Amino acid sequence: MKIGCPKEIKPQEFRVGMTPNAAQEAVARGHEVIIETGAGLGSGFDNDAYVAVGARIVDTAEEVFATADMIVKVKEPQAVERKMLREGQLLFTYLHLAPDPEQTHDLLASGCTAIAYETVTDSNGGLPLLAPMSEVAGRLAPQVGSWTLQKANGGRGVLMGGVPGVGPAKVVVIGGGVVGTHAAQVAAGMGADVTVLDRSLPRLRYLDDVFGGRFKNQYSTAGATAELIQSADMVIGAVLIPGAAAPKLITREQLSTMKPGAVLVDVAIDQGGCFETSKATTHADPIYEVDGIMHYCVANMPGAVARTSTIALGNATMPFMLALADKGWKQACQDDPHLLAGLNVHAGQLTYYAVGKALGIDVVSPAMVVKA
Ligand SMILES: NC(=O)c1ccc[n+]([C@@H]2O[C@H](COP(=O)([O-])OP(=O)(O)OC[C@H]3O[C@@H](n4cnc5c(N)ncnc54)[C@H](O)[C@@H]3O)[C@@H](O)[C@H]2O)c1
Repeated sequence: MKIGCPKEIKPQEFRVGMTPNAAQEAVARGHEVIIETGAGLGSGFDNDAYVAVGARIVDTAEEVFATADMIVKVKEPQAVERKMLREGQLLFTYLHLAPDPEQTHDLLASGCTAIAYETVTDSNGGLPLLAPMSEVAGRLAPQVGSWTLQKANGGRGVLMGGVPGVGPAKVVVIGGGVVGTHAAQVAAGMGADVTVLDRSLPRLRYLDDVFGGRFKNQYSTAGATAELIQSADMVIGAVLIPGAAAPKLITREQLSTMKPGAVLVDVAIDQGGCFETSKATTHADPIYEVDGIMHYCVANMPGAVARTSTIALGNATMPFMLALADKGWKQACQDDPHLLAGLNVHAGQLTYYAVGKALGIDVVSPAMVVKA
């Protein structure tokens, strides 16, 4: 199969859909890999790194789209990219179609087959191609939060681990899923005093079993949150209610109960944010202050560490990418119901129920499409 990887063109996107290691694996199986010149630079992979493993560099995205049977990307195709998709072409990338009717209509009109990273599943009920980015954002949260806590950045001037004779920072993590667990691990590793709140008892049991000695956990109620934030130096918002906007768990009124210069890191900002005073920010201007409380609300946190994020995403997508290339999308989806769960669009038909419901478009069962 001819596998094409264009350079990402969405603003502030430095990741790339294929690492040289992934390209090497594909070439070793007899596939042809075509990379747009400079596609990997934002993640620290120059053209030579791809050429060295047998990939071919081309000058333009047009050449990639015109040549490839399968396009592997990171972000949803932008309008100019969607114009280059064609009937029968396979697209493997993040799509997030439900809030994006324009993109959905363009993909349907193109006749391509599109498999969305974010809806591929695993046997534990998880989303294996979203998890790596949650791991990155979670581990990054205490890092950016501790920078924000520094006096010059508006914070309380508290060191995460304290020093001998001075206690550590108090960190509260709301939501103990993938983001929350990784955030808690890193905050605890920095020496902070960490408490994780979650609404799921099985999840709290898991956290207790695995991390019991390293951080505390507590059942999440409005009362518990109100009490804990009064003494917190940093609160990390990491909740998710699948398919819904994030619940607002700290009101503006409650900010006055917190210590001046305390920091809120709202990782759930991509779902609307879980603090009433959160509004999305960018890496260029990541923090702001409301009522004496510092806020960090960057919606694409993994972009700050593009190289780590690219490699983490590539590790997760590679087995699926290789299955698609080796077998073709239909056989690969027949063999793997988790990959089939990623099928969102095929030959002008929508094949993902939640997207159809959100956009009022008729949906064809993916199982039917894959059998046809
Ligand atoms: N800003 C970014 O760059 C970025 C990157 C990755 C993920 N995210 C976002 O981070 C959020 C968390 O993602 P995740 O992968 O950890 O999800 P997850 O499903 O693994 O975990 C979410 C957790 O929140 C818990 N929860 C739900 N309601 C709660 C409540 N009221 N109080 C306490 N806990 C509650 C759930 O029980 C679950 O354990 C999502 O909104 C995701 O989109 C943002």
